[in-house]
Amino acid sequence: MNENQELPDVVMPHPPHRNLLRGQKALVTGANSGIGRSVAIYLAQEGADVVVNYVSGEVAANEVVNEIKSKGGHAIAIKADVSKEDEVQAMFRQMIAEFGTIDILVNNAGLQRDAPIDEMTLDQWNTVINVNLTGQFLCAREAIREFKRRGVVPGISCAAGKIISMSSVHEVIPWAGHVNYAASKGGVMLMSKSIAQEVAPYRIRVNSVCPGAIRTPINRSAWESPEAHEELMKLIPYKRIGEPEDIGRAVVWLASDDADYINGISLFIDGGMTLYPGFAAGG
Ligand code: BGC
Repeated sequence: MNENQELPDVVMPHPPHRNLLRGQKALVTGANSGIGRSVAIYLAQEGADVVVNYVSGEVAANEVVNEIKSKGGHAIAIKADVSKEDEVQAMFRQMIAEFGTIDILVNNAGLQRDAPIDEMTLDQWNTVINVNLTGQFLCAREAIREFKRRGVVPGISCAAGKIISMSSVHEVIPWAGHVNYAASKGGVMLMSKSIAQEVAPYRIRVNSVCPGAIRTPINRSAWESPEAHEELMKLIPYKRIGEPEDIGRAVVWLASDDADYINGISLFIDGGMTLYPGFAAGG
């Protein structure tokens, strides 16, 4: 095959469900769109009961809940701003009242407020750090309190709890014009690994997922036009954009007992974006 051959953007159909997460209760933050939506649907397909968290976009959140229910799953939507301590605590109280406990937290909610460094407002900086980093801290703290209180439940999972932190290739790739976002993801990387180290003795696993360019609303301008898509492909050795399903599947696996001995990793799901593609023909 020739290197310049046109390759289609395809993701293979999902294999038959194995009910890997049967009986488990999961919370996915920012689950009304993009990666969070896919993660919520995949967790539910494997048998987890899912809280679909959202902060705006109630209609979309209810659509995710309905899609899960239409496939025989169980889900509820809960509104909360992950950057607000009282709202996060109220969301956990509601989840535990309705589902009894939490086994899986997917710290997914995140946003971008891009600007050149000399034009970036403090508000743009704070919004990104508060949601992407502080939001993950607040949710992780509540989840760990419940994991420690409850401990391992035989027959449900080998672990007392699992946290999946949504990071990014930008936990290692510097990103001009997006310093607030890259700083937040660099923070997620060391926060996640530090929490993993701290709570591992309680049989709690904490891992990060680092997506590259995934086809979602957050980066629409990077893939919507043919010109932008062509530019994007220069950054992706595997020559296709990622789909939300690529992340949903990986999160299911990381949350399941199939990954029981995996703790504190950053799992890059990026078609090779972190392989320095500029060096393929240079250096
Ligand atoms: C960002 C996207 C970007 C991708 C690759 C993600 O973390 O949210 O906007 O396309 O990284 O650069």
